[in-house]
Amino acid sequence: MNPIERPRRLRRDGLRELVSETTLDANNLIAPMFVDATTDERVAIQSMPGHERVPIEESVARVEEIRETGVEAVMLFGIPESKDERGSRAWAEDGVVQEVTRRITRETDATVITDVCLCEYTEHGHCGVLEDEAATDPRLTVKNDETLDLLGKIAVSHAEAGAEMVAPSGMMDGMVGAIRAELDDANYADVAIMSYAAKYESAFYGPFRDAADGAPAFGDRRHYQMDPANAREAMREVALDVGEGADVLMVKPALPYLDIVSAIREKFDRPVAAYNVSGEYAMLHAAADREWLDLQETALESLVSIKRAGADIILTYFAEDVAAAFDE
Ligand code: PBG
Repeated sequence: MNPIERPRRLRRDGLRELVSETTLDANNLIAPMFVDATTDERVAIQSMPGHERVPIEESVARVEEIRETGVEAVMLFGIPESKDERGSRAWAEDGVVQEVTRRITRETDATVITDVCLCEYTEHGHCGVLEDEAATDPRLTVKNDETLDLLGKIAVSHAEAGAEMVAPSGMMDGMVGAIRAELDDANYADVAIMSYAAKYESAFYGPFRDAADGAPAFGDRRHYQMDPANAREAMREVALDVGEGADVLMVKPALPYLDIVSAIREKFDRPVAAYNVSGEYAMLHAAADREWLDLQETALESLVSIKRAGADIILTYFAEDVAAAFDE
């Protein structure tokens, strides 16, 4: 029997490359980076091989290492010197992210994007101001509207330090609108907002919470982050953020939520970002360590899949490794 169609013809070397539908480029990658005010030395992060908490003094050197691979954008997460009830080090002018942002923007050509959230700065590890009885009543967690005021202050402090884009990740209702208003008021109309628009309450954040010391001291984040079971709700979240002025729409995590990436790409005319999170990184490393998977191949395949699903931008701990591989 002769097949009528022969798709294999186009899979031969030479033609295969010509018909490739998806390409990865270092220009579309963002490298997350942990900056730590509590250390003078780089500290390896056990559950994220190859990543470190970087002291303020080393931050510029670290960014230059990333830029050597061709990746120009970094996303900063801060570990403050101290934490308190409301997370006040998050908007301090001399806070860790503010200081590092000033240094990087002054001394390098990197694009600085900052995570705007409170969980690394509050003693209790939640992403906002706690409800009065939250520590003892599992039905309570974070006060939405009071938290919005703080998120606005954080965003403005990052903009003052030189951040080109801020990325609110707390999943508070109205956070994009509140931040846009504060930025505009403070004369930062040019600073963009990349909203963690559809951020799920995911077990894949485990290694990040070790890295950034941001695990909740009690309870979990299910009262503000999205239920993994919900897709229609993601469309509603995204529509709200678009209405409030989000410039870039992010989905997080990436691989278990490619259906969401694809649906947002179809429906909204905005750049879409996907966050290939710490657990997605750690699991490939763990399997590769046992020689069960090839790290480089699985990392590339993961990122191509995220792009193919519709992401324009990928935040990934593999950014440097894969970008360096493009050159080879
Ligand atoms: C803070 C924040 C988290 C991540 C990014 N920003 C943790 C969380 O929501 O618990 C996770 C990133 C990762 O796992 O790589 N709100």
